[in-house]
Amino acid sequence: MWGGRFAGGPAAVMREINASISVDKRLWRQDIAASRAHAAMLADRGILSDADAKAIDAGLAEVGLEIERGELVEDPALEDIHMHVEHRLSQKIGDAAGRLHTARSRNDQVATDFKLFVRQCIDDSIAGLDALETALIGRAEQHAADVMPGFTHLQSGQPVTLGHHLMAYREMVVRDRSRFADARRRMNESPLGSAALAGTGFDLDRDATASALGFDRPTANSLDGVSDRDFVVDYLHAAALTSVHLSRLAEEIILWASQPFGFVKLPDAWSTGSSIMPNKRNPDAAELVRGHSGRIIGDLVAMLVILKGLPLAYAKDLQDDKPPLFDAHDLLGLSLAAMAGMIADLEFVPEKMRAVAAAGHATATDLADWLVRDAGVPFREAHHISGRAVAAAEAAGKALDDLTLDELRAIDPRIDERVLPRLSVEASVASRRSYGGTSPDRVREAIRTAREGR
Ligand code: ARG
Repeated sequence: MWGGRFAGGPAAVMREINASISVDKRLWRQDIAASRAHAAMLADRGILSDADAKAIDAGLAEVGLEIERGELVEDPALEDIHMHVEHRLSQKIGDAAGRLHTARSRNDQVATDFKLFVRQCIDDSIAGLDALETALIGRAEQHAADVMPGFTHLQSGQPVTLGHHLMAYREMVVRDRSRFADARRRMNESPLGSAALAGTGFDLDRDATASALGFDRPTANSLDGVSDRDFVVDYLHAAALTSVHLSRLAEEIILWASQPFGFVKLPDAWSTGSSIMPNKRNPDAAELVRGHSGRIIGDLVAMLVILKGLPLAYAKDLQDDKPPLFDAHDLLGLSLAAMAGMIADLEFVPEKMRAVAAAGHATATDLADWLVRDAGVPFREAHHISGRAVAAAEAAGKALDDLTLDELRAIDPRIDERVLPRLSVEASVASRRSYGGTSPDRVREAIRTAREGR
């Protein structure tokens, strides 16, 4: 399709390094949609005869049906999906096919096709996040009042509720979704009509093709239109950060399912066995979600490095934009679906969580807070007194809230019986009613707000 000035053909390896069809055939739907929009616009502008436009449109529709049926014949000599579609069209309708590429270049064509594809990826990711959010909220509601240890430094800090913990991940989902939505808003401009790099002398209607393809407007600069891949980076960044959040949650599931924790039981549907150890029940899906985030981060870095140092406008380096995007989108889709499924199906073990929460003297802060609030002790001194109570409990081999009133008063006489009911883990979480806090009523309020879509 470009050989007019060449006498010899390409070397075999030249052909191989140049061909992208095995990868970019995934753009076939977008390629056909954009070509149909382009042909219709050319006809409206009188650049293409109505008869040719009709033949092109019907032919493209047929090519689409063939590819859908799996009948695409890959030929490295035809390089990429754009040339495959056009070649097949010419086999079907003859010379009229050669008019489709009027006022167009593969440079604006691929930018347009790829934008349409990435836009669909964004919509897919948002749908995946919606499903994960639903799973998280459902389980949070079920466990809004169940106590678990809250950690800092992975050391028991203060008791929290499982519902609160799950809702923390829901906050990340909300931010992830807004990053995808933001990327979508910013990228939704049509490069079609930028032509090779400089625009075209034909009297195009770029607004018409933009709106036919669901874009908000045409891109404002043809050089930028053909060479911009920020939309890929935006998608990959949103995907990478989402995958990092999924990886953190996966890591918690892996820890919680291990015997020393025993906070969750992995249902059969989300476990694998070992070929040698019959006792094993492995959290492979969670581990793969954790691993996939590494690959998705790699995809983001690959795209950034491909762009770095590229002069305007198009260069063939940009053909390498597709593998990282496809890879990240596929991995993220699987990760989101697996995580939503695991969260929905996990069997939590609230008794075990509560027992561990109570074991770490985790209400020491509540004792200190009580001394401040009800006995007028300055916090620094109260912290010290409570620390001595923890030491006394440890020496006596019991939990802080099992110390008797006498034992507590021996540490500081300002302590009285009113403190006793404050030292259970249930009382502790119930007291944390500050906005955004872990008390069951605050968690239920957060769930209500989330369900109202805020
Ligand atoms: N397959 C190419 C790509 O994905 C299409 C654009 C080719 N443009 C060109 N001037 N050779 O980037």
